[in-house]
Amino acid sequence: MRTVTTVAELRSLLDDERRNHRTVGLVPTMGYLHAGHLSLMEAAAKDCDVVVTSIFVNPLQFAPGEDLENYPRDPEGDAEKAESAGTTVLFTPSEEEMFPDGRASVATTVEVAGLSAAMEGASRRTHFGGVCTIVAKLFNIVGESRAYFGEKDYQQLAIVRRMARELSFPVEVIGCPIVREPDGLAMSSRNVYLTPDERAEAPVLRRALLAGAAAIRDGETDADRIRTLMGSMIDAAPYARLDYVEVADKATLQPQAVAGPTSRLFGAVRFGRARLIDNVGVDAG
Ligand code: PAJ
Repeated sequence: MRTVTTVAELRSLLDDERRNHRTVGLVPTMGYLHAGHLSLMEAAAKDCDVVVTSIFVNPLQFAPGEDLENYPRDPEGDAEKAESAGTTVLFTPSEEEMFPDGRASVATTVEVAGLSAAMEGASRRTHFGGVCTIVAKLFNIVGESRAYFGEKDYQQLAIVRRMARELSFPVEVIGCPIVREPDGLAMSSRNVYLTPDERAEAPVLRRALLAGAAAIRDGETDADRIRTLMGSMIDAAPYARLDYVEVADKATLQPQAVAGPTSRLFGAVRFGRARLIDNVGVDAG
């Protein structure tokens, strides 16, 4: 595995690879890698000759007061894990490399309307603009490739896919399934914030979403009743503070009044310092 820290070096390395007819996979991450991230690298390694994993804690997608300063980091552990999962090029740019004029002076941003409005976009107003801006930069730097994103961040995946298509990036966006702990908790770098008691309770988020999915399979079509069902399960957990539970169209991500086969269930819950998100399809469980 080669570690690259500059845009110029990454571009020239990938140009050489493509000249030799080697295909490129990209796995964008913010590091503190876990099995969910590694599953994306493994998928990329199956499909592509060169696997570029980027690690950059992107300040643009954190609002003031969020966990940018405390976001967990483990550069050495990440390098070992990335290599073991098939990464051949680790791209770890500094903030100066990504924002040559300073992050405060960034004037060009990328926004995807509509898909960004509900759920994570409503709770974190500036989040997806920051995600799209950095992912657009990575797509421009890496060029023709396949890019792998997790369904853990289902809304992000839909937004990035739309952005790539509408802005004609030569990038095929590929979604990969959620990797979970044995008790069902979706793996996340932020799970490290959980105290033992919060960690024990955290799978309630997925259990609530699965109960919503089961209700739809059993014929419930009133989306508000499903929201209430899911919300009351989370409210019953003493450490959980509900942010939202949603029944939304799996393609447009708009909240639904009538639930059915086109629905997907989404939720965000705070446990102490951690804010956890998850989602399941109607057939899950
Ligand atoms: P990060 O949270 O580090 O996640 C990087 C990628 O790993 C995302 O595509 C995410 O969906 C995927 N991922 C995280 N947990 C997963 C799990 N349990 N199962 C499957 N995939 C999982 O998402 C970001 O970083 C950033 O927003 C980024 C796209 C890198 C832009 O800064």
